[in-house]
Amino acid sequence: MPPITRLHLASGNPHKVQELQSLANASGVAIEIVSARAVGGMPEVAEDTGTFVGNARQKALALRAQLPGDAWVVADDSGVCVDALAGAPGVESAYYAGPQHDPVANLSKLIAVMRDVPVAERGAQFRCVLFVSGPNGQEEVFEGFCAGQLLFESRGGAGFGYDPIFAPTGFHQSYAELGDEVKNRLSHRARAWARLAAWLGRGGTAP
Ligand code: IMP
Repeated sequence: MPPITRLHLASGNPHKVQELQSLANASGVAIEIVSARAVGGMPEVAEDTGTFVGNARQKALALRAQLPGDAWVVADDSGVCVDALAGAPGVESAYYAGPQHDPVANLSKLIAVMRDVPVAERGAQFRCVLFVSGPNGQEEVFEGFCAGQLLFESRGGAGFGYDPIFAPTGFHQSYAELGDEVKNRLSHRARAWARLAAWLGRGGTAP
């Protein structure tokens, strides 16, 4: 199999393109992350499978369908799973406050829902599935998670989504206060990427 030098990211989220490219650079893997926008835009996807893997697969196959047969696609499906909410919003993180996918409304809703939950019960984890789809129907799944605590209010200006209220274990600051460098060492996406990078390093084969 020829080496994979380019991965098309099946996402309309520019933060994810940037984060994955940073992670790729930091992992020493010579790979270009190409945004869906650069190849005609991300098609509408139902995201209705109820699982991170299923939704990531839907996104990957949707973008792959509009690319040449030898293209490699990676899709990210991710979200925050809150212990006190039995894992919600989880796969529904992107549209927690409604179908408009409004990250500010989603964040406000989670802050409001968690307002009276005591510190000891504010555990949560970010989860990320990176789903790779390649030529000849090849499919690979890489997962990562990062545990932490939800804060009571938004703090910091970096990152995106729920970053301002998520403090990873071992830190009092939110991801949005800690910034990209720290986040990219700890995050659910960084951990999933490390597995994907190891797979790339093996030439795209099983361990
Ligand atoms: P997706 O793009 O359909 O996978 O939706 C992911 C949802 O989870 C969005 O609401 C994001 O804001 C949220 N999310 C995923 N990863 C992160 C992250 O690293 N930081 C903050 N929010 C995230």
